[in-house]
Amino acid sequence: MIMPYEIKTEKVKNSRLPGIDFDKVPFGKVFTDHMLVAEYYDGEWQETSIMPFQELRLSPASTVLHYGQEIFEGLKAYRDHDGKPYLFRPYENFKRMNFSADRMVMPQIPEEIFMGGIKELISLDQGWIPTNPGGSLYIRPFMIANDEYVGIRVSENYKFVVFCCPVNSYYSEPIKIKIEQKYVRAARGGTGEAKTGGNYAASLYALSKGRQLGYTQMLWTDAIEHKWIQECGTMNVFFVIGDKVITPNLDGSILQGVTRDSLLTLLRDNEYKVEVRPISVDELVEAHRAGQLKEVFGAGTAAVIAQIKAIGYNDEDLVLPPFDSWEVSNWLYKTLTGIKHFDLPDKYGWMVKI
Ligand code: COI
Repeated sequence: MIMPYEIKTEKVKNSRLPGIDFDKVPFGKVFTDHMLVAEYYDGEWQETSIMPFQELRLSPASTVLHYGQEIFEGLKAYRDHDGKPYLFRPYENFKRMNFSADRMVMPQIPEEIFMGGIKELISLDQGWIPTNPGGSLYIRPFMIANDEYVGIRVSENYKFVVFCCPVNSYYSEPIKIKIEQKYVRAARGGTGEAKTGGNYAASLYALSKGRQLGYTQMLWTDAIEHKWIQECGTMNVFFVIGDKVITPNLDGSILQGVTRDSLLTLLRDNEYKVEVRPISVDELVEAHRAGQLKEVFGAGTAAVIAQIKAIGYNDEDLVLPPFDSWEVSNWLYKTLTGIKHFDLPDKYGWMVKI
């Protein structure tokens, strides 16, 4: 009999790794050799297995397919100069996964399964961690509700799955974003703070309209007045206005980003003037008119730091200054990637050895 949390492993016969060129992998389309699956039923976590990357078998009546009870995470693995694998701040993702699980009425995932499972999976697939500049191994844990039942209720069966992709930058160049003042990603009291697929699904209609106009992402605003800035959907957002670095406070409708938190730590420890507070569309537009909007950038695990070259507002583009003057985001990018790639000291203990 298999004891709960014991991880049973079936290895691939032939690795696909020799055919992979890390410099050329597109984001999220190339998968490592193995994945992890844990099953929850009868009120507890049962078998946990590592197996060759493969399709999941689900009933067409599986609850996740109809009602979207699902959550996910995104974290990254890197190597040190000796080639040893590390995870960047994985306990933050572990905590946020269980925060999202609570909000979506799903079971808590034990540390042995989340952390233990990811460590074992990454040890096995460590050859897939890129070492090229800007490369990393993106790890995607997720949990789905899996009752075979067409009615609405909190499910009793769940699957927790982890798979991984070697990746380069999510955005290969600076992007244009558009202030969204009609559609809503998340409202207070909703699920905006949980990392659940529905938030992303809800953003797609406005996103597709924005894409037709040449914007890569929406800059979401609050659901009631469309006055207060929230986040970008793929990342949190930061503004440099005058000599201050400003990011919206966590008000329950935006994601508690791990990269956001890391940047705030770096900024505060290096004497930058940081303000975490509500920021309105009017303040942004006025700062731009006054020549005080110096930098706008997104922060996320996939995106890392994404510089924004213009913000669409009504029918105009607020164009940002040339990037060589962007002292804050260029410094943050160098510092954060320096820590992740072991070129700078890890004084916060963010890199966790596998
Ligand atoms: C991440 O940054 O990990 C995300 O989940 C964002 C997604 C667009 C890839």
